[in-house]
Amino acid sequence: MIVTIDGPAGAGKSSVSRMLAERIGFQYLDTGAMYRAVTWSVMQQGMDPSDREAVAELARQVKITFENGKVLVKGQDVSQAIRSPLVTGAVSEIADNPDVRETMVALQRSMVELGNFVCEGRDQGTVAFPNADCKIFLTASPDERAQRRYLQLVEEGVSADFQDVLTTQTVRDHRDETRPVGKLVKAPGSIEVSTDGMNFDKVVDQLETIVIQQLRI
Ligand code: DC
Repeated sequence: MIVTIDGPAGAGKSSVSRMLAERIGFQYLDTGAMYRAVTWSVMQQGMDPSDREAVAELARQVKITFENGKVLVKGQDVSQAIRSPLVTGAVSEIADNPDVRETMVALQRSMVELGNFVCEGRDQGTVAFPNADCKIFLTASPDERAQRRYLQLVEEGVSADFQDVLTTQTVRDHRDETRPVGKLVKAPGSIEVSTDGMNFDKVVDQLETIVIQQLRI
């Protein structure tokens, strides 16, 4: 069985999806981490991110695996490195590459063959798993998403400016919503959940109720 959770950056998808998967006994697939892992490899190789052919070839060659919640590239743990601001700043260009997307979607489909999965990303309910058993579109208003991100940065001791966070988010949203392949759009048949004003536990509770109803588990 497959549950897809798509939505914009900052809607809380990752933490919510991970907890939901744990509660219902499914595995969790973080597809954003896969695009980040390719981006990290591109940077490691000193490759030009705009060289579409070379980047596509690297995506086909690189071995991305998940192990105990960690992301590995050719066996190396890159879980922290792929969250760096450098990777975050460069990942959109890699995720825009249709050949990279084709490789990642094929890999996602093969990864879920053996088990039940909560698959989280932007195109999981539209492109990767259009026949998923339950599709969720998790969203929140731009202000709320930027506010959460801003507070997270402050908590991490990073000096941040709310307007800057909001501007960066707007640019990323636009890129996610307009990429030629795999753009962020509410999948047909998906259930939209807005997390505005809801705390983490409440969001997970609501999703769990929806999923249990839909999957009849
Ligand atoms: O969710 P995230 O921030 O880790 O995603 C990293 C980047 O990858 C972001 O720019 C959106 C993109 N992405 C995508 O295009 N398709 C997915 N299925 C998942 C993420």
